[in-house]
Amino acid sequence: MDSGTNSGSIDVLEGVITDYFDKGKSDLIGRWTGFEEYLNARLDAGLDPYSKYTASKIGPEIIAYDRGRTQFTGVNFASQDYLNLSTHPAVIQAATKAANTYGVHSAGSAALMGLTELTMELERTVAKFFHVADATVFPTGWGAGFGLIKTLVKPWDHVIIDVLAHACLQEGADSATANVHRFPHCSNEAVERRLSRIRQGDRNAGILVVTETVFSMDSDVPQLRDLQQMCRKFDATLMVDVAHDAGAIGPRGRGYLETQGVLGEIDIVMGSFSKTFASNGGFVATNRPELKPALRYACGPLTFTNSMSPVQAATVLECFRIVDSAEGQQRRTRLMSNITYMREQMAEAGFALLGQNSAIIPVIVGTNGTSRMMTSYALRHGAIVNLVEYPAVSKNGCRWRVQVMHDHTTDQIDRFVETAKSARRVVAAAHNLIPPSELHEDAFEPKRRTSSS
Ligand SMILES: Cc1ncc(COP(=O)(O)O)c(C=O)c1O
Repeated sequence: MDSGTNSGSIDVLEGVITDYFDKGKSDLIGRWTGFEEYLNARLDAGLDPYSKYTASKIGPEIIAYDRGRTQFTGVNFASQDYLNLSTHPAVIQAATKAANTYGVHSAGSAALMGLTELTMELERTVAKFFHVADATVFPTGWGAGFGLIKTLVKPWDHVIIDVLAHACLQEGADSATANVHRFPHCSNEAVERRLSRIRQGDRNAGILVVTETVFSMDSDVPQLRDLQQMCRKFDATLMVDVAHDAGAIGPRGRGYLETQGVLGEIDIVMGSFSKTFASNGGFVATNRPELKPALRYACGPLTFTNSMSPVQAATVLECFRIVDSAEGQQRRTRLMSNITYMREQMAEAGFALLGQNSAIIPVIVGTNGTSRMMTSYALRHGAIVNLVEYPAVSKNGCRWRVQVMHDHTTDQIDRFVETAKSARRVVAAAHNLIPPSELHEDAFEPKRRTSSS
C-alpha cells in the first residue's frame, strides 16, 4: 500500500477513531472536528465501510451505497434479518392492516395512552413465548436494556456485568451506579468471586448480574443455569439479553434459554425485536409482575418516550406467529444449515472464526489496515459485510461480523467465501507478502472520492 492511506496527519490505515476526538477543547462541538476529518479521510481513501445505506429490500442480494454515495451490489451478509421475515408477505400484510386500522403512530407514551390493543397482545405473546408471567414492550431494545438497569439499580447497589456485554447494558450500568464490577468474558467463576466479595461487605445492597445468551461480537454463550443458581445463593438478580438468538435458534426458537433448559427460570429476560422479529422494539420478560409498573412509570426510555407504533406491534406479532409455526421451524433449520455451511467453508479457507453456532459468524481479519483493505475489496467485489473495529472490539481485534440469513443459498455463501479469499490474497500482496505473479485478481487500489460524488 502506498497511496491513499495517509491524508495529512490522519492515518487512515492504522489510526483508530478515538484518537481523533479532542477532549481537551472547550468547544464541545469542535471536539468532534478531528473525528469528522478522520472519517472523511477514510472515505476518500475507500476505507470507510460505515453508514452504508440500502436501496432495495433487505435480502440475500442487495443494492446499497456507501457514505460517499458510491453504489455497490452483491451478496448481503451485513443485515440482521435472520429468518428474512422483514419481507415475508404475511408480515407485510399484517403491517398494512394495522396501518389501515390504527394509523401508523402510537401518539403517546405507554404510561398515558400510547398503547394499542396490538401492544397489549404483544406483551402477552412475549410472556407466553418465554414461559414467564409477564412482559413489557419497549420502543427499542436499547431502551429496554438501558432502562431496565437504570430503573432497578440505585446508586448504593452493584452491577456485575460481562466485560463484552452490549453497549446499552454497559451504559445502563454506568448511569445507575458507580459500583460496576466488570468480569472477564463468560467467566462464571469470576462472577462468583465478585458476588461473594460484595456480599461479605454489604448484606443489604441489591446486586444485578448482567450477561447475554449470544454475544454479538464473539457469538459465544455463558452457562446460564450455573449463573442463575449462583445469583439465588447470593440474593442477586440475573438479567440475560437474548437479542441475537430469540426466534432464530433452538428447535422452538427460544434460543439458548431453550437449548440450555432454563426457559422460564431466569430472573429477567430482555431482548430486541430488531434481529429476527423484523422491527424496532424491545422487551423485558419476567415472573415478577411488579416489574411492569416500575417500567411503565419509572423508566425513562419507556415512560418518557412514545410507545412502539401499531405497525411495529403488528409486524412483531406476525413474526411471533411464524416463529412459533412449522414454517418457523423450517426457517430455523435452513438458517442453521446455512450457518454450519458458512462456518465450514470459511474454516476450510483458513479463516479464524469465533464462537458457537448463531446467525453471527465473527471472522478475524487482522490488523486495522488489513481488515479495512479487505473490507473495501469485499464491498467492491460483491461481498457485502460489516467490519467491526476498536472500540467495539479490542485494538487490532478487527473482525467481520458475517450475518447469515435463512434466504441465503449455498451459491451465495460460496460467492462470499471466494471473495473473502480473494480479498485476503490481494491485500496480502498489497502488503508485499506474496509476489504479484501469484495474484489472479486486480491489485488493491483504493478509490478516491471525486468532488462531484
Ligand atoms: C445484544 C444486544 N442487545 C440490545 C440491542 C439493542 O437492540 P435495538 O436494536 O432493538 O435497539 C442490540 C442490537 O442492536 C444487541 O445486539
